[in-house]
Amino acid sequence: MGFEEMWSALLPVGRDPDGGGYHRFAWTPPELECRAWFLDEARRRDLDVERDRNGNLFAWWRPDGAAGRAVLTGSHLDSVPGGGAFDGPLGVVSALAAIDLMRERGVRVDRPVGVAVFAEEEGARFGVACLGSRLLTGAIDPSRARALRDGDGRTFADVLAAHDLDPDAIGRDDDLLGRVGCFVELHVEQGRALDEPVGAASAIVPHGRWRFDFTGEGNHAGTTRLADRRDPMLPFARMVLAAREAAERHDAVATVGKVDVTPGGVNAIPSSVAAWLDARGPSDDAVRRTVADVHEAARAAAASHGVAVELSEESYTEVVGFDTSLRDRLVAALGGVPVLPTGAGHDAGILSARLPTAMLFVRNPTGVSHAPAEHAETPDCLAGVEALAAVLTDLARG
Ligand code: GLV
Ligand code: MN
Ligand code: MN
Ligand code: MN
Repeated sequence: MGFEEMWSALLPVGRDPDGGGYHRFAWTPPELECRAWFLDEARRRDLDVERDRNGNLFAWWRPDGAAGRAVLTGSHLDSVPGGGAFDGPLGVVSALAAIDLMRERGVRVDRPVGVAVFAEEEGARFGVACLGSRLLTGAIDPSRARALRDGDGRTFADVLAAHDLDPDAIGRDDDLLGRVGCFVELHVEQGRALDEPVGAASAIVPHGRWRFDFTGEGNHAGTTRLADRRDPMLPFARMVLAAREAAERHDAVATVGKVDVTPGGVNAIPSSVAAWLDARGPSDDAVRRTVADVHEAARAAAASHGVAVELSEESYTEVVGFDTSLRDRLVAALGGVPVLPTGAGHDAGILSARLPTAMLFVRNPTGVSHAPAEHAETPDCLAGVEALAAVLTDLARG
């Protein structure tokens, strides 16, 4: 099956029939269907499939004579709520298509080539982005991961156990990492930064997620005088505006894209509001200052409304500078492509702490991502497959 057939087979899985994008959350039926699709495609190609103890999937091409540390590529199959078709799956489908091209062309590889599907890259279910790659590399404490809960209150440990994974066995896997020499992730570009079909990544900007818990007093919307209210919605509203103002001040970006209001009745003053802040910027300092300013504004507004506020950091990733010699090699193998930084997080960013890592981007003409309008034209996707095949060929030989 070529790129286009694979792409068409995956396209309907988890797609909202009313145009609301994809809902492929880790370990839910649509994502499990995507995983099953991947394993089928891998087996059809006689690749050796493996599920690691952290729930990540791998398919290894190990032709006779290939030995030593593998060249690994791949991405993820989960999505944000209402996500686009390309963020994640493009890297997985392109990886399988690139191996097909190499085989068709009789490329002889000296090293194995692997395709990875990392679990819970978006953190849309358990809150921590890149959970599978963080566990694999030891970037998150396994006991913290086990205790993470989804929106229904189910723990990550519980969900792993339901899928025949031992929650006590999760964590850094030096055996697996020791079998890999380098990682190259292909991904749709997620802004308007790439004018050519294919580019390479220089860096990922610092980024993180923070949770603000506002606790007030639930009460009746009609009978409670304004002076008697402890309404957590008011400091929450102030916090949202403060995020925008602080981001402008520090040349960062800040987003409040998720909020839980308890109990969520039209005619009830909420008892609590939980809100999530995503902040990213050109430097650690810019991000830290943005979050500190938002916290300060939230604290002041909460105090003036008799509300308590607590801040917790759910994840933070410092600036990722991708391996420059690997990137130079990749750019040379492609005869020169644009090199650009990104404001989006990726498993490649997590793996870069342990392995030489690089990324290829495919042009996104809409400039939209994490939304249904995310797009890449088929000729650009095919150029991405060609580029990935050239890079894997270069890295897996000699
Ligand atoms: C993940 O895609 C992120 O950048 O949030
Ligand atoms: Mn994403
Ligand atoms: Mn992604
Ligand atoms: Mn991402």
